[in-house]
Amino acid sequence: MEKTFLMVKPDGVQRGLIGEIVGRFEQKGLQLVAAKLVQVSREQAERHYAEHVGKPFFDNLIKFITSGPVFAMVWQGDQVITLSRTMIGKTNSLEALPGTIRGDYAVHTNLNLIHGSDSLESAEREIANFFRPEEVLDYSKAIQTWI
Ligand code: TYD
Ligand code: MG
Repeated sequence: MEKTFLMVKPDGVQRGLIGEIVGRFEQKGLQLVAAKLVQVSREQAERHYAEHVGKPFFDNLIKFITSGPVFAMVWQGDQVITLSRTMIGKTNSLEALPGTIRGDYAVHTNLNLIHGSDSLESAEREIANFFRPEEVLDYSKAIQTWI
């Protein structure tokens, strides 16, 4: 089953939106297989956002993501990478539609509440950057049969 790395960013944790965000993925029928609060180090943040090194927003992005705890998660489900990106909404806050997490709660592109992996390769790399293999659980969820 496909897995993705999702992370409530410091703004989402500070605003008390962990429950709301987790609830959306639960209600959709996706399966939570790992989760923890993490104070991200500079090194870990730079590994996570390696593809953005050198871009104009990089330094602020690293400063922001290390500014307070994040809620790191692994979710599992059929095509979960694309599906969760759809539920998260567009990166540009002006294009994130109502009904998406960013569209409903975020005003600015740089304070956009949640990260979601964008490919199988980045999901694997990002999961490994936050979780040891034994922290990602394998369990069956009865309702999955109906979704
Ligand atoms: P990116 O990976 O392009 O977006 P996404 O989070 O949707 O995968 O960029 C990573 C983060 O960098 C993005 O969530 C917010 C920040 N960012 C900016 O602050 N300004 C920008 O112009 C872009 C493209 C991203
Ligand atoms: Mg990205």
